Amino acid sequence: MSSAELGTAGGPALRFRRAGEADLPRIMAIEAAGFRHPWSEQLLRNELAHSWSVMLAALEDQPGPERLLGYIVFWLVHDEIHVLNVATAPEARRRGVGRALMEQAAAHGASHACRLVTLEVRRSNVAALALYQALGFRQVGVRPGYYAEEREDAIVMTLALDPR
Ligand SMILES: CC(C)(COP(=O)(O)OP(=O)(O)OC[C@H]1O[C@@H](n2cnc3c(N)ncnc32)[C@H](O)[C@@H]1OP(=O)(O)O)[C@@H](O)C(=O)NCCC(=O)NCCS
Repeated sequence: MSSAELGTAGGPALRFRRAGEADLPRIMAIEAAGFRHPWSEQLLRNELAHSWSVMLAALEDQPGPERLLGYIVFWLVHDEIHVLNVATAPEARRRGVGRALMEQAAAHGASHACRLVTLEVRRSNVAALALYQALGFRQVGVRPGYYAEEREDAIVMTLALDPR
């Protein structure tokens, strides 16, 4: 897969780049639309500052002003990619953006000799669970009451990578 460009059947042509401070207002708007407990601006800034953290933006690949459709935040720790956050703007959902972002994270891991992608997801998050399952993730555990506010369980999922 090309890291710069990826066309998704039936969906928008996308390109990807590292997110930066200028993207935070748009990312925070997508956070607010996507989560009951959205990340704060400070939390997002922290991720931009961590050397081990990668925040990628998915942009519609078209002329004119940039349109950020989604983003992913993941950590590269030893031989593992840990996905902390992925979200697609509500108006751009079900068009392959979330899948493409996850594939970008996996490709980043494969090119850095990673063997595994890991993540946690709320038991009730039907869309995210379906996305991860469609990508081949497997449930490897449950963290009971991991999301403290609602005492909701986290499903722990992993995907094995073939290092390049
Ligand atoms: C989860 C989320 C990122 C998916 O993003 P998306 O861009 O809509 O996902 P895609 O279009 O790439 O979907 C790929 C596949 O995932 C599955 N999927 C995605 N959303 C789904 C839904 N609402 N219901 C069932 N399956 C779904 C489908 O298999 C889909 O393929 P298909 O459209 O060909 O059937 C998006 O719903 C979102 O931003 N949710 C709010 C934030 C969130 O919960 N993030 C995950 C935190 S763990």
